[in-house]
Amino acid sequence: MKSQTALRYLRRPKAITITQLQHKQVRYLRAFGYEQVKALAFSEHGEPNKVLTLHQHSISPIAATSGSAVSIRFLASPINPADVNQIQGTYPSKPAFTSDLGSSTPLAIPGNEGVAEVTAVGPDAKRKLAIGNWVIPQATSFGTWRTHALTTADRLLKIEDQSGLTPLQVATVTVNPCTAVRMLKSFVSLKEGEWFIQNAGNSGVGRAAIQLGKAWGYRSINIVRHREGDEMDKMREELVGIGADAVITDQQLGSKDAKDLIESITGGERPRLGLNSIGGQATLDMAKQMEKGGHIVTYGAMSRKPLTIPASLLIFKDLHFDGFWLSAWGDRFPDQKKETIDSILKMYREGKFKEPPVEEVKWDWNTKLESLVAGVDKVWESNRYKGVFVFGKT
Ligand SMILES: NC(=O)c1ccc[n+]([C@@H]2O[C@H](COP(=O)([O-])OP(=O)(O)OC[C@H]3O[C@@H](n4cnc5c(N)ncnc54)[C@H](OP(=O)(O)O)[C@@H]3O)[C@@H](O)[C@H]2O)c1
Repeated sequence: MKSQTALRYLRRPKAITITQLQHKQVRYLRAFGYEQVKALAFSEHGEPNKVLTLHQHSISPIAATSGSAVSIRFLASPINPADVNQIQGTYPSKPAFTSDLGSSTPLAIPGNEGVAEVTAVGPDAKRKLAIGNWVIPQATSFGTWRTHALTTADRLLKIEDQSGLTPLQVATVTVNPCTAVRMLKSFVSLKEGEWFIQNAGNSGVGRAAIQLGKAWGYRSINIVRHREGDEMDKMREELVGIGADAVITDQQLGSKDAKDLIESITGGERPRLGLNSIGGQATLDMAKQMEKGGHIVTYGAMSRKPLTIPASLLIFKDLHFDGFWLSAWGDRFPDQKKETIDSILKMYREGKFKEPPVEEVKWDWNTKLESLVAGVDKVWESNRYKGVFVFGKT
């Protein structure tokens, strides 16, 4: 005979919030096909360590939902700077607050990127997906900082061939590598052998641009923040190891010898394309080294400083300042986004692309909120780690 607890939950067709769920109850619900979920969530914007909670709820069995429903279990979900900005409420796109998670106050789940495994498929979704497939969110603001999700097939992109790929590679493919592809291809038609310049050369986007540029025959000057002692040599070695042609520091670029330095690297050529993730003085220093008519594409503002440009760079040097936002591009061109993702995954399989070094934040069923938030804080405050939640037994 079914227990009273299980019967009560079985009668409800939608997600159920279960606070302080006992292990016994979890076992009952799982036995009846109700997946137990833990999600980092927030009900108001603010600093992650102030507003994030670990919300526990249950999702209905596929049989009790619509025909296109799909259940997924996350394998890995990155912690990107934009995710934290969304929690803070300072990012232009924001995950929606919803009551669908069964909470008394509407909640939003952060996380734009991640890879999940399909665990159940409704009859109408079977043409597209099967149990065991790996999927990534089709659009941003999916809410990937959770152990499981109940969604629909149209919100997922299937990884057609997951062989030879790791969850980490697939989890991090959508944002940084796609941004690097579009910025290298959409603003200036670089010729083989031509130089481009970028700041934050060691960032996720920067590392992707180095490797893609190399694969397409472009040469890169990579600016990184100065480091003391052998840290700088290590950084230079690391970036040269993935294909950087030159690695210089922000201090060198800001010095009076910068012009000579750039010319000694390129043999006199000046870059027509600059990729900018920093803002403020760092970007101005880069702009001064550009070729006439060149383009600086801004995609980030890590220094949080505004960009002040002398009129002479616009009038006499005819520099162009462009911006790029992957979310807008991806929403506008979903087919191109899929093609771009597939092409990077192919490079991974062929050993031509390397994922960035990451700090793994383990997430098992018993992981406490404090550990997860500490992981987010570490990534955000240090700015030196690329963080990824890696899901174990959930
Ligand atoms: N527009 C888009 O579509 C798009 C797409 C992807 C990313 N982004 C944005 O691009 C930026 C970088 O993302 P990511 O994932 O590549 O970052 P990441 O891997 O976390 O790297 C951050 C980089 O920024 C540098 N940095 C941090 N704080 C800085 C400061 N105050 N001054 C100068 N440099 C600083 C770091 O240098 P150190 O190693 O020296 O700390 C590192 O090179 C973020 O703002 C992100 O939101 C935008």
